[in-house]
Amino acid sequence: MKSTFLFSAALLGATVVSSSILSRDSESGPPPSSNEQPEDPIIPLSNDTSFHFELLFTLGNTVFGAGDVNDVLAAAKAIKPGNFTSWLETFHALAEHTKTQAEDPNNAYDPVNVRDAWFAASSYYRQADFYNHANWTDPRINSFWLEQRAAFDKALAALPVPGERIQIPTDNNFTIEAIWYPAAAAADGVKQRPTLVIGNGYDAGQEDSYHSFVVPALARGWNVLTYEGPGQPTVRRNDDIGFIPDWEKVLTPVIDELLNRKGCYVDEDRLVLVGISMGGYLAARAAAFEPRIKALILNGGVWDIYEGYSGHLTPELKELLDAGKQEEFDEAVLPLLESPEVPVTLRWGLGHGLWCFKQHSPYLWLESLKDYALKDVVERIKVPVLVVDSEFEGFFAGQPEVVKDALGDKATYKFFKGTAGYHVQVGAGQEWNRYLFAWLNKILG
Ligand SMILES: *[C@@H]1O[C@H](CO)[C@@H](O)[C@H](O)[C@H]1NC(C)=O
Ligand SMILES: *[C@@H]1O[C@H](CO)[C@@H](O)[C@H](O)[C@H]1NC(C)=O
Ligand SMILES: *[C@@H]1O[C@H](CO)[C@@H](O)[C@H](O)[C@H]1NC(C)=O
Ligand SMILES: *[C@@H]1O[C@H](CO)[C@@H](O)[C@H](O)[C@H]1NC(C)=O
Repeated sequence: MKSTFLFSAALLGATVVSSSILSRDSESGPPPSSNEQPEDPIIPLSNDTSFHFELLFTLGNTVFGAGDVNDVLAAAKAIKPGNFTSWLETFHALAEHTKTQAEDPNNAYDPVNVRDAWFAASSYYRQADFYNHANWTDPRINSFWLEQRAAFDKALAALPVPGERIQIPTDNNFTIEAIWYPAAAAADGVKQRPTLVIGNGYDAGQEDSYHSFVVPALARGWNVLTYEGPGQPTVRRNDDIGFIPDWEKVLTPVIDELLNRKGCYVDEDRLVLVGISMGGYLAARAAAFEPRIKALILNGGVWDIYEGYSGHLTPELKELLDAGKQEEFDEAVLPLLESPEVPVTLRWGLGHGLWCFKQHSPYLWLESLKDYALKDVVERIKVPVLVVDSEFEGFFAGQPEVVKDALGDKATYKFFKGTAGYHVQVGAGQEWNRYLFAWLNKILG
């Protein structure tokens, strides 16, 4: 998930684990918890914390071609905190405006113009879609997504080495969606290049990864394959299927395809799996069953999703959940979706969660999360793992350290703080990618 927080701390009585920002060695673990909130080092883009995060997500990706800084700042100014309609309309108008520029024949003479304009339009369509999953029959759930895809594909085709969409059928009832981005031909003539395989988590699309990962990876001579499985934006829509915990059912066919496909030149000694946000669980789970992966990057480390989410319920709700009172639990939780008073973090987290796990009952949804834990598989992971932790990581706070401890000397633990200390290093993509590739260089050469 780009935004992690499911239940708002303020609303449901969570205590956000806080830490001091005293200068310290970032390699040696997070500072001890104290009762002080660390001071936020940047200015807010919205008075709603979820809107702020999502605006920062797009703003941060502008350095990798996701649009213009002023487009995002103007959206930040126009959008009313907490108002989903105002978010949707603002980003949709921006997307349409940018699409008009992309189609203007005066601009379209040049592939760089084409690419930049369509990537930006696509990124704005995705943001228009972001908070709009609570009503499953709203046709815009599909129409906005098709718009972002059409725009994205025009941009993909205009890359110096065009990206390629790949559909990978499985033995199960879904088809994996992937995009292959080959590195440019290297001066040394060696075709096999190191390769990143990238999967997101709760909410981001593989198209988002183009900006956060693919641009910096291609610049360093890496190939990239991004992919989506059940619950993730395109597969959720195409195959009407929610998340599954046994993610090896997704990853194994992906690696099979990558290593057997004509035109995919992969250096098999430098094949790296990356899991982002809740993908930190999905990738770790799948890596436990995939011996062909040579290194694993978890940003962040996720140990147990049920613990992460249910641990933030109010004592009253937790009691209903533990007592198995489905009806009462759902009656208490479902009205929160409709209430404009409820913070977006909770309204969106719940509404999107039900959609992407394909559940109508919050109770059954939370129960289903009990299958998403690393405890029983972690010892099967045999490769070097980078476990990322972040100072302002509220929701899975504490879990990266548990993952690190369980992995023992296979783990490198990295704690990001200050301006790079947000969930998935949002807004600090350059620093994050520098660290990531330096780590890979150290581990794989
Ligand atoms: C947040 O609210 C304060 C007080 O109403 C206002 O001055 C400020 O401009 C708002 N900030 C944003 C980013 O909307
Ligand atoms: C939310 O924003 C929309 C679009 O700007 C506006 O029409 C609507 O009145 C707003 N709702 C509230 C409750 O402010
Ligand atoms: C959901 O969307 C459909 C189609 O736009 C609409 O008819 C319906 O009123 C919406 N439901 C709610 C609760 O907003
Ligand atoms: C796909 O298969 C799984 C496991 O057999 C099942 O639980 C799920 O309901 C199926 N989904 C669809 C959309 O058919």
